[in-house]
Amino acid sequence: MDNIQSPDEKQKIEESAHFVHIRLRSRGHFIRVWLCTCLLCRRLWARVYVLVMENVVKFPQKRYFRQRAHANPFSDHNLEYPIDPSKLSMHELYPNVEEGKKISIVDVGCGYGGFLVRLSQMFPEKYCLGMEIRTKVVEYVRQRIVALRAKGECLNGQVIRSNAMKFLPNFFDKGQLEMMFFLFPDPHFKRKKHKARIITAQLLTEYAYFLAPGGMLFVATDVKELFDYMTAVIDAHSMFEKAPDCPFPGLIESITTSTEESMKVDRKGGDKFVAFYKRK
Ligand SMILES: C[S@@+](CC[C@H](N)C(=O)[O-])C[C@H]1O[C@@H](n2cnc3c(N)ncnc32)[C@H](O)[C@@H]1O
Repeated sequence: MDNIQSPDEKQKIEESAHFVHIRLRSRGHFIRVWLCTCLLCRRLWARVYVLVMENVVKFPQKRYFRQRAHANPFSDHNLEYPIDPSKLSMHELYPNVEEGKKISIVDVGCGYGGFLVRLSQMFPEKYCLGMEIRTKVVEYVRQRIVALRAKGECLNGQVIRSNAMKFLPNFFDKGQLEMMFFLFPDPHFKRKKHKARIITAQLLTEYAYFLAPGGMLFVATDVKELFDYMTAVIDAHSMFEKAPDCPFPGLIESITTSTEESMKVDRKGGDKFVAFYKRK
């Protein structure tokens, strides 16, 4: 300390000697804490530290939320759902929601929510909902949204655990939806399992009921056989027609790049097939 010239500088260093600098690691976050050696300040710093910890909203790590890929849509999943759409609390799902606003975009089988988050950015004035059946995956998306909301993002995006094959009537009114997405759905390859597919003639009638006239339905997959099957079923349905163009710039690109499954396909170097239809 003798080689320090300025008295100010010397005082600063002497003062800092009263503090112990520690670096804490908590669930992936490093927090620096300076603890004073005097008892009073130590208490103060401990309190500040607790406050800092409370304010850290952690982004979930996917490796803690892995779950077996396929959930049986016909089994009882102990799901909770409103008795009818009027009982769905928009205020619980979306902070500061405008009175009378309804969900207008649904990502069915949203998986880990990459596309759902993208939707909320692309359509900030609309309310977007991801429906996902797997518990841990829903919990991941929920925590992802909480972390984003702490930064003021994804206020119009939400996820719920539900079986979209059974409970759409509990959530939506006739003609309420503007867009429905079925991206990289489970292929259910075996013929006797085709009835578990999320696109069937019967379910399409339901989707047509919830979509407003002119509303859009999007499908995407990396499985050519499933793509041919889905497009054949939709082409044959009287309530849908192929849309010549997608009216939303960048949407098709997002479908093929921002879902977790689409990224997996990119890593493996597979093909991706997308089709979109208009509700007549
Ligand atoms: C292959 S993943 C695709 C996930 C996401 N769309 C993506 O592209 O990354 C299919 C998802 O649909 C979910 N799923 C399957 N059947 C469902 C149903 N009946 N209702 C809600 N989600 C369902 C699965 O749990 C799974 O997460």
